Amino acid sequence: MPVNVCQQLNNTKSLDKESYVSSLLSQMTLREKIGQMSQFNNDNEKLTASIKMGDVGSVINEVNLETINELQRIASQESRLGIPLLVGRDVIHGFNTIFPIPLGQAASWSTEIVESCATIAAIEAANNGVNWTFAPMIDISRDPRWGRIAESLGEDPYLCSALGSAMVKGFQGENLADNTSIAACAKHFAGYGASESGRDYNTTNIPENELRNVYLPPFKALADAGVSTFMASFSDLNGVPVTGNSWLLNDILREEWQYTGFVVSDWESITQLITHGFCADTESAAFEACQAGVDMEMASNTYAKNLPSLIQNNKVNIEQIDIMVSRILTLKFDLGLFETPYTRATSAVECLDNFHLDAAKQAATKSCVLLKNNIQTLPLSKTELTSLAVIGPLADDGYEQLGTWVFDAKPNQSITCLNAIKSHVGDSVEVKFSKGLATSRSHNQDGFIEATQLAHSADVAVLILGEEAILSGEAHCRSNIDLPGCQEQLINAIYETGTPIILVIMAGRPITLEKVIPKVDAVLFAWHPGTMAGPAIADLLFGETSPSGKLPVTFPRTVGQVPLYYGQKNTGKPPCDATFVDINDIEVRAPQTSLGMTSTHLDTHFSPLFPFGFGLSYTQFEYENINVNRHVIKMGESVEITATISNIGNFDAEEIVQLYIRDLVGSVTRPIKELKGFQRIYLPAGQSKSVLFKIHTDELAFYDRQMKHTTEPGLFNAWIGSNSDTGLKTEFEVV
Ligand code: BGC
Repeated sequence: MPVNVCQQLNNTKSLDKESYVSSLLSQMTLREKIGQMSQFNNDNEKLTASIKMGDVGSVINEVNLETINELQRIASQESRLGIPLLVGRDVIHGFNTIFPIPLGQAASWSTEIVESCATIAAIEAANNGVNWTFAPMIDISRDPRWGRIAESLGEDPYLCSALGSAMVKGFQGENLADNTSIAACAKHFAGYGASESGRDYNTTNIPENELRNVYLPPFKALADAGVSTFMASFSDLNGVPVTGNSWLLNDILREEWQYTGFVVSDWESITQLITHGFCADTESAAFEACQAGVDMEMASNTYAKNLPSLIQNNKVNIEQIDIMVSRILTLKFDLGLFETPYTRATSAVECLDNFHLDAAKQAATKSCVLLKNNIQTLPLSKTELTSLAVIGPLADDGYEQLGTWVFDAKPNQSITCLNAIKSHVGDSVEVKFSKGLATSRSHNQDGFIEATQLAHSADVAVLILGEEAILSGEAHCRSNIDLPGCQEQLINAIYETGTPIILVIMAGRPITLEKVIPKVDAVLFAWHPGTMAGPAIADLLFGETSPSGKLPVTFPRTVGQVPLYYGQKNTGKPPCDATFVDINDIEVRAPQTSLGMTSTHLDTHFSPLFPFGFGLSYTQFEYENINVNRHVIKMGESVEITATISNIGNFDAEEIVQLYIRDLVGSVTRPIKELKGFQRIYLPAGQSKSVLFKIHTDELAFYDRQMKHTTEPGLFNAWIGSNSDTGLKTEFEVV
């Protein structure tokens, strides 16, 4: 077998990365260069032959270890230049061990938790030959109708930036070349979360100022954190689909941010430039995407078909192609693929091993948000109970508790709530189970008789309801975000029995719960918690630990309030309780002005059902003594804001302390609150702690009318509190 170029290069130990890449590049034909820019799906029948010909830079969706190693062997031994493959897969919230959906992980407000979930996902994925994941998704998501909110880290730029960076650290590790690291991908750049009416793939219209202040900061944070790749969104941004949007990909990403990693298209998003009505044919689509700076094409083959002639006709220049290919080769180098193309598995790693399962349980435990808890409802005491009714279509379903994007999960190894509750109480409590409804969407109420009988004869009914996995995720949007099917009717039927109800909800999005809340005694919102949903939820129900998650997204009362988020602008006529008039209280032919004339709806309160940052605990935390070390600071200085938090209840617990600010006057109007810091602290019962936040004036900057990132002098309010709607208030001035 002839020694291929990579083998020769491998022998040239003295070459640094740049020399290695440019030396390789100098030996590539145009076809081989375009090959590096092409990603094939694993079901492509020409895959093997194409790899041999040097036509493939990356494969997506292959996870069979032997197949991957064989493909890597062909690439590195049988192609002319021996360039190994990037093996991409959507490892979104776990590989075999499934962690809470990203929105659930975000509810932990814990960079440690998020990082550890990604670390373990990377270990398992790398062990199977995957070296590149299409995560994290850091699209700011303010529309719970949008199915992909499940994959997001919520509505807030600060939280999303912090957690997204932690996820990148987890996936990529200290060194990409480690055999437990995989390359990450910041997606979907940018604005996809603003899809009109929460319909997937829809138009987005985002003024530049809002784009820069709200949607782009997490992407900038991830670029700074060294994320290996970016994915260009499917979506149409202000009339120019992102996949062909040179302003976003070149001017902002490359020039302003100096990003050096590579950009991959979304699935066939280059050919979709035609469907968008942006390009007439595949040649023009390839041209626009290439000019915009999409380095690699996912799944479709417009580059392979059209770039050769575009280059020949001098429409695309070869220097540009060389830069794009170098970026891809550089990642391969960083991943150590030229040295070790084969699976970087360590035989010591077992998927779903106890360490991974413990981490999954820990993440699920910290992600659950307690939304309601009547006195003496939770935690349950197994010594005081004699019987428990577990009811609901999601109580004993190892698949549905995993949520969206779980291609490689092992649902039969999930531990369900029913099983975990049973093993938690042992023989001391009788646990009876009825599904009530066949699925979360079911309208057939035949199961209600059995369910109500069980509830009637039990001390407590634990209802495990919500959305089955298929109802959220890509292309799984809903116009109505109530509990689907007849679940509300099921709650009503159980309510009639008079047995206390604990409602556990597993879902991929906020659910409108206004009608349900009064009927139940406690609500634990668990998102889709993953493989270890059951043990985590059982521990919380029985008080092994206190719930400590906080909402990473606002919960509306009704879908008509959407979009509803805490960082709104004040408007010229902000709503308030003093002027709010409910539709039922309007007098007949009342004068127009009696309606308060503020920015609200008549048929629902202007507040959300649960605000961003909200979450109860089994203990009570008291916030006191807010203090700012200096009331006036100069540009370039920092201010320190402190408060004392005390656990005044009887339960040792964790609290997520949140810092918000408001810039009172801006040359561009500023949100009424902006998260600027958070700390998850542990406080044993009876103990207090002083929590300090340090804010530099640079952290108060925003994009002004000239799109300059600047801090403007003036007065700032600051709050330290337990959610976005409460807190101790102080102020300081920047001069
Ligand atoms: C999604 C991406 C995903 C890709 C590959 C697309 O449909 O939008 O988020 O990474 O498919 O599976």
